[in-house]
Amino acid sequence: MVQLHEMILRDGHQSLLATRMRTEDMLPIAEKLDEIGFFSLEVWGGATYDVCIRYLNQDPWERLNKLKKAMPNTPLQMLERAMNIVAYWNFPDDVVKKFIYMAKKNGCDYFRIFDALNDLRNMKVPMQAAKENGAHVQACLSYTISPIHTVDYFVDKFIELKKMGADSVCIKDMAGMISPKRAYDIIKGTKEAGVNLPMDLHSHYTSGMTGMAYQRAVEAGADILDTSMSPISGGTAAPATESVVAAFQGTEWDTKYDLELLIECRTYFLKVWEKYRHLHRFDALKVDPSVTLHQIPGGMLSNLIFQLEEQGARDKYRQILDETARVREELGFPPLVTPTSQVVGVQAVMNVLHGRYKVIPKETKDYCRGMYGKPPAEIKPEIMKKVLGPTWKEEVIDCRPSDLLEPLWDKKKKELKEIDGGSLIKKEEDIMTYILYPQVGLKFLKGQAIAEFTSDNLPLPIDHVFTRAMVKQSFPEVKQLWLETQPPEKRGGPVQIPTEFQVEVDGEPYEVKVIPSGGYLVAGAGGTTPEKPKDIEGGIKSNMQGTILKVKVKKGDKVKKGDVIATIEAMKMEQEIKCETEGEVKEIFCKEGAPVSSGDLLMQIL
Ligand code: CO
Repeated sequence: MVQLHEMILRDGHQSLLATRMRTEDMLPIAEKLDEIGFFSLEVWGGATYDVCIRYLNQDPWERLNKLKKAMPNTPLQMLERAMNIVAYWNFPDDVVKKFIYMAKKNGCDYFRIFDALNDLRNMKVPMQAAKENGAHVQACLSYTISPIHTVDYFVDKFIELKKMGADSVCIKDMAGMISPKRAYDIIKGTKEAGVNLPMDLHSHYTSGMTGMAYQRAVEAGADILDTSMSPISGGTAAPATESVVAAFQGTEWDTKYDLELLIECRTYFLKVWEKYRHLHRFDALKVDPSVTLHQIPGGMLSNLIFQLEEQGARDKYRQILDETARVREELGFPPLVTPTSQVVGVQAVMNVLHGRYKVIPKETKDYCRGMYGKPPAEIKPEIMKKVLGPTWKEEVIDCRPSDLLEPLWDKKKKELKEIDGGSLIKKEEDIMTYILYPQVGLKFLKGQAIAEFTSDNLPLPIDHVFTRAMVKQSFPEVKQLWLETQPPEKRGGPVQIPTEFQVEVDGEPYEVKVIPSGGYLVAGAGGTTPEKPKDIEGGIKSNMQGTILKVKVKKGDKVKKGDVIATIEAMKMEQEIKCETEGEVKEIFCKEGAPVSSGDLLMQIL
């Protein structure tokens, strides 16, 4: 018998509906889902926490709590990014432990724990904490293809994870590129090595091979498969639950689930799918076998295209693909999943646009220093030298990254208590929201978060002309179509289309503003840039599109070559702008929080 791990309430809508399914869409069907008898239902973690507070104005804790009450019989599961929890950077042990305790208390029974680099040191604390709180630990390995990631690599790590106390293990194929043979070999090898724990295969339908991989997986002894109810399945999401149930009927792997009951649930979710039609991305449903060639996950591909457009270099796409593969190899073959996909992708874009390792974001430096954990293979010494300088050996840490962090809970609790007379803390979990997402979390706690839509107030569907204009990034012909609906006198003028929308990048929400000239501004960028000349003697220009994070000098400061004069957030990473001459800062044309384009004048240094 095989069991299924149902994904529709987390990974399914994160993959196909930008994680936007609201709590009120989940509760009406919970009772029926609870009757099926799933191994577990994934309902929480991943991007859901961020999206809840950022875009839905819903409390993620309340969702978990209500779902558990509505589904007392089925173990509920969350996806936990080891020391990153549900965010994108490392937290100290005390916060990780507290989070696991709270999640268990609020209804999370199973913790699916993974680390982007498969650095098991990063998984130790959350695994132990889950065990101490009486939860089930499903320890995952991020799947990828490289000379390092052999069958033995995975088998050895699974043996280790068993020793660390895992209750079940899982191959997390987030890019949907595992082949039937690889699935078979890893699962068979792991079982034969004596890892007698329930074994789960998590995959996505991206490559189109997943159904075959699932068949071979159960033949090798897999106990659990990850699926998503059909209305939100396929493409970049998991294979359809009902199809897998039907396929195994009458075989030794029969799930024994009630297919009629599943079809009732399907009818319900068809309506949910309909409700969120404004979020449908047709590309996400296409089978894309090219993932097996370049090994870049689908989410990261769209991310790269987006970043290239942002930097005005869409024509460099092919080059970037090759460069991504090269950078990944040079950086020691990290699996491409949040946050390592971002590090590799952005460095590749920078290399193509500005020359190899000429511009190095802070995140690449951190990665090379070991701040994300230990890369699977050694980073090439010549790259280390380029990224960290001649003294690179002294910069590298060999401890677990979170060992360098001070405890944070008490400090942040005190900090939050001092804001608005402590009125923001209604429950302990609110402190966690503040720690995980200091800015967005605070806005949410203050009641200033605005739901981008609610169940009573839905945006226009995607085939509406205005919506089409909003997604013109994906559909370049849309601007033209929109123009054709306008009276002639308006066609020549500035195009007035909706200018703000959100895109999903590798499961993470990303706000974008469209400006009529066709450039993109990163949102959240308040204020305007002061009037400035196009060119000027001693003018220092931005070499990328982004948002000014910090202006590091003031008027009248003396600077020399190599000084960092400002930092820019471009492509969600921090980049330094260095002074290329020496002299005095005569004028500053940029300000913190304001957007800049590539070629924009930042300051004058003479
Ligand atoms: Co997934």
